[in-house]
Amino acid sequence: MNSTNQYDCLLDIARKRRTIRQFKPDPVPDEYITKIIEVARWAPSAFHTQPWEFVIVKDPDVKNKVVAALERHGPPIKDPAKAAVARRSFKDAPVFILLLCDWRASVGLPGNAGADKARAAGLYASSLANAFLLMHLAATSLGLASQWYTATSRPDAESAIKKIIGIPGALTIYDMMVLGYPDAPADTKIIRDVAGMTHYNRCGVGDFRTDEQVLDYAAKTKAWCLSQH
Ligand SMILES: Cc1cc2nc3c(=O)[nH]c(=O)nc-3n(C[C@H](O)[C@H](O)[C@H](O)COP(=O)(O)O)c2cc1C
Repeated sequence: MNSTNQYDCLLDIARKRRTIRQFKPDPVPDEYITKIIEVARWAPSAFHTQPWEFVIVKDPDVKNKVVAALERHGPPIKDPAKAAVARRSFKDAPVFILLLCDWRASVGLPGNAGADKARAAGLYASSLANAFLLMHLAATSLGLASQWYTATSRPDAESAIKKIIGIPGALTIYDMMVLGYPDAPADTKIIRDVAGMTHYNRCGVGDFRTDEQVLDYAAKTKAWCLSQH
C-alpha cells in the first residue's frame, strides 16, 4: 500500500470511529478481541514502560456484577428526553474490556518521575489513552462498535469492580471499553474546523478563540453530547 492509500485508510478509520451507546447482544469473535489487544500493545508509552493490562469481561455473571457496580456508584448521563424510551445500552454489549494501569511499572520512568506521583499520573494518563484509542480504532477497523466508558474509574465504582474481578491493589482501572455490534448509529458529529485550530510558529491572543466563542462552542458540544446519551 502506498502512503496516500495508507493515509486515506487511517483517516477513514479515524472518521468512522464513533462512540456507540446502544449495542446488540450478538457475540464478538474471540479473534477480534485478540486483534484489538494486538494493536493496542504497539502504543507508545512513557519511557516504554507499557504499564497496561487488559481484562476481558464476557462471563454474564461477572458482566452483570460490573453493570450493577456501575449503576450503584456511577449512574450514566442520560438525556431526559430519551430516558423514558426503552432501548438497548452498554449493558447489552457482549464484551467489556477493562484497561488497567500497573503502577509498579513506573519504577522504569526516568529520573524521579516514578516517585513523583503527579508527574507519573500525567505520563500514565497519556500512555493509557494511547493504548485505549488504538483499541477503539482497531475495533472500528473490524466493523465493531465501541464505547469509551469512564465511570469505571470513579473511586467507589473502581474499588467495587476491582473486588468483583480480583484486581490487585497496585493496579488501577483506566477506563472500560464496551464492545459489540451497534444497535443504533451515531449522529452526525459536530467538529471544529481545521483552519481555526491550526497555528504556525508564533501566536498571539488574536489567533485563538475569544472567551465568548469558547463558551458558545462548549454550550453547543455539551448539548450535542447530552443528546447522544
Ligand atoms: C476521556 C474520555 C472519556 C469519555 N467518557 C465517556 C463515557 O463515560 N461515556 C460515554 O458514553 N462516552 C464517553 N466518551 C466519549 C465522548 O463522549 C465522545 O468521544 C465524544 O462525545 C465525541 O463523540 P464520538 O466519539 O462519537 O466522536 C469519553 C471520551 C473520552 C476521550
